[in-house]
This record gives sequence, structure tokens and C-alpha cells, in this order.
Amino acid sequence: MSFKEKINPARLPQHIAVIMDGNGRWAKQKGKLRVFGHQNGVLAVRDTVEAAAELGIKFLTLYAFSTENWNRPKFEVNALMQLLISTIRKETKTLTDNDIRLQAIGDIDSLPTGCKRELKEAIDLTSGNKRMTLVLALSYSSKWEILNAVKRIAGEVAEKRISISDIDESLFNSFLCTANFPDPELLIRTSGEQRISNFLLWQIAYSELYFTNKLWPDFRREDLYEAILDYQSRERRFGKTSEQIVS
Ligand code: FPP
Repeated sequence: MSFKEKINPARLPQHIAVIMDGNGRWAKQKGKLRVFGHQNGVLAVRDTVEAAAELGIKFLTLYAFSTENWNRPKFEVNALMQLLISTIRKETKTLTDNDIRLQAIGDIDSLPTGCKRELKEAIDLTSGNKRMTLVLALSYSSKWEILNAVKRIAGEVAEKRISISDIDESLFNSFLCTANFPDPELLIRTSGEQRISNFLLWQIAYSELYFTNKLWPDFRREDLYEAILDYQSRERRFGKTSEQIVS
């Protein structure tokens, strides 16, 4: 039986988040520039998005560019932005053909104009698609997102539009970039690193974490199936006891 056949369709995670790591090391192993790794990372993005949509995953969030990634050499940052622009441009039709809606989270205003334009166009064009939502985290960091939410909530309190006693988990959620998405049940990180790297800190409070040694450009649908199977083998207790979950 293949990994895919073993997956229980009734127990799929609704939302999978992925830290796509290892592009640079993959390229280095081949004696190439880091950018070559990012270019090949796009093939992994394609296969993963297609496989997730086919399986019936409702939300897939990919960490494509962190706030901290702005500190990389200018050449690499520019190449990543160009790659984003060309990939979004090339893949918008595929997204629509597959009924996939594109969304973005992060400090989108900080992206170069061309990137913002391409992103907005693709988001608008795919806004009516229903099968799966693909969320790109761009110029995103969780601490930025949380601080941003805190500042906006403080502003609302100062303007007396909300009172301090109104602040609960649900209100706080509604001020995050992910307000319209459920929390991910499964977080995958490639490349053997076991870190969260400022990604969705609030949202992954109860996510299952899955780490694989595969470098991102080598990640394919079989690896996604394997991660989902591993997720399905876990008992999610949310602070309760095993006996409570079983009964
Ligand atoms: C991490 O590998 C990867 C990134 C910072 C960029 C991810 C971008 C892509 C896969 C291409 C574009 C994506 C989309 C959605 C169009 P790394 O460079 O940190 O690798 P290393 O840890 O081996 O150095």
C-alpha cells in the first residue's frame, strides 16, 4: 500500500503550514549558487500545492520569506523577489485551473512594487476559488504580527471602541494576519533543523510538529503523504488525558 492509500481521508488536517528550509544547502551540495536552490524549491512548491489540493487539504501556508530574510545579501534578496514575481505570474492560471485561492500574510507593504502588484493581481484573480487556500507568508515574522496586533488593539482601546475586558483569544485572533484561517494542525519543517524561526507562534500552540531531513528542493508529494500519515498516528490530547480522548 502506498503512503497515499494509507491516509485516512476522514482525519486530514484542515491546515498544513510548511517551513521550506534547505534551499541553500541543496545548491551548495551541487556546487551551485544558493539561488539555484531557490529556483528548484519552486518545483517542490508546485508538487506540494498540487498534492495538498488533490488530497482535500483546505489551507496550506508556506513560509516563503521571513522578516529576517531581508538581512541576506542584496543579490539573494533580489533574486528571491524576482522568483516570486515570475512564479506568481506563471502559476496563477494553474491556481485557477485547480480552484485554488491565493492569499498572503506578512508586511506586504514592505515588498517591492512589482512583487506587490503581481501578488495583488493573483489574489484578486483567484479570490473566488474554493478547493484550497494557498497562503504565502511574505516578509512575515510572528513577533512582528503579534506586536502589530497589540498596537492595533491598544489603539481600539484608546479610542474606546473596545474595552480591556473584551480582549480574549477570539478577539486577539481577529487582529492577526491569519484571522480568516483556522490554526494549522500540522507544521512541517524540512532540512533537519528543529526550530520554529518566528513562524505562526500564536497559531501553532497545539499544532503537531513534523521534521524531516529532506532539503526543500527534494521535497515531493510522497514526503507530504508521509508527514500526514505521521500526523494521523498521533494522539492529540489538548491537555486532556489519553483515557478522556478515547472515551
Ligand atoms: C529557505 O532555505 C528558503 C527560503 C528562504 C526561500 C523559500 C523560497 C522558495 C522555495 C521559492 C519561492 C517560493 C514561492 C512560494 C514562489 P535557505 O535558503 O534558508 O536554505 P539553507 O538553510 O540551506 O541556507
